[in-house]
Amino acid sequence: MNDLDSLVGAAQQSFAASGTPADLENAKAQFLGKSGRMTELMKGMAQLSPDEKKSRGAAINLAKQAIEAALTARRQALADAELNAQLHAEALDVTLPGRQRGQGGLHPVSLTLERIESIFGSMGFEVADGPEIETDWFNFTALNTPEDHPARSMHDTFYLEGGSEHAPHLLRTHTSPMQIRHAIAHVKRHRAAIDAGQPMPEIRVIAPGRTYRVDSDATHSPMFHQCEGLWIGENVSFKDLKYIFTAFCRTFFETDDLVLRFRPSFFPFTEPSAEIDIQFPSGPLAGRWLEVAGSGQVHPNVVRNMGLDPERFIGFAFGMGFDRLTMLRYGVNDLRLFFDGDIRFLSQFQ
Ligand code: FA5
Ligand code: MG
Repeated sequence: MNDLDSLVGAAQQSFAASGTPADLENAKAQFLGKSGRMTELMKGMAQLSPDEKKSRGAAINLAKQAIEAALTARRQALADAELNAQLHAEALDVTLPGRQRGQGGLHPVSLTLERIESIFGSMGFEVADGPEIETDWFNFTALNTPEDHPARSMHDTFYLEGGSEHAPHLLRTHTSPMQIRHAIAHVKRHRAAIDAGQPMPEIRVIAPGRTYRVDSDATHSPMFHQCEGLWIGENVSFKDLKYIFTAFCRTFFETDDLVLRFRPSFFPFTEPSAEIDIQFPSGPLAGRWLEVAGSGQVHPNVVRNMGLDPERFIGFAFGMGFDRLTMLRYGVNDLRLFFDGDIRFLSQFQ
């Protein structure tokens, strides 16, 4: 074997032994590079006679072409191997069933809201919506809440810039201002009939929405949800409140096996007033009384602020915290879970 044949053989071996494109480029440099073995051979031609140069040159060219061909073949082989490995790694099983796109779902507190609206709707209540930014008058004054009432203090209430000294703006601390807003609009529509002593269609409304207080622990959050209820007519009594609220709870919790307690309490806007507690005789919450709402017979001063004569019109109101109702219904022990937005928690309610 002459020196050129053995050089070609060595190059072929070296290329074959290169396992990666980078190895192969290194091997290429050894043979075809500037100081590679092929270049060395070419330099050796300087001392040859013209005839020898001719035949030696042709032979070197052939050897060079053979090495380049081996290099190209090995490059292609390595590229093919890489592609195959990639295809193998990313292999698709086309027989697998398709993955469904996540459907999403309603937040548990929204599910409660839908239930509340549908249950009260079936009992003849309409649903009203109102502003979360209120004036001091709707949130407190119209509700017979005196200037020095503790709920008005900065400790409980988020006051906003703007408004005036006499009408500060604040984030509503309860949904009770909706009693006044809704009643005033209702009374306005029926003013003529009322003044003529004709019957007024009863006010029967719920007003769910967001409320805000400077409050934070496992059962209190700074933003929470309340649903106000109001029923005003000429012949509405506390026993109607008891009946309606009991029927609501039995439907909401899907059991007759619960007891309601109307515990005497105080609100400036109702007289008499009661906190409504629930107890489940069985199940995980058995034996504990849990406060779910405030309620009472609407105070005569509030009836007057609605534009009605308290000698003629009477009724009841309640305000329930429905984040708490949601906790009870699903057995959730920390209110804050509802507002963390953790998909692992929320997906359990789908
Ligand atoms: C009121 O807000 C009265 N407006 C309710 C009312 C309406 C009474 C109409 C009479 C007539 P209270 O502050 O107790 O009452 O709140 C009512 C309910 O809201 C509570 O029973 C509780 O379920 C819920 N609640 C109150 N504060 C928070 C809070 N920070 N986080 C979650 N829920 C709360
Ligand atoms: Mg209370």
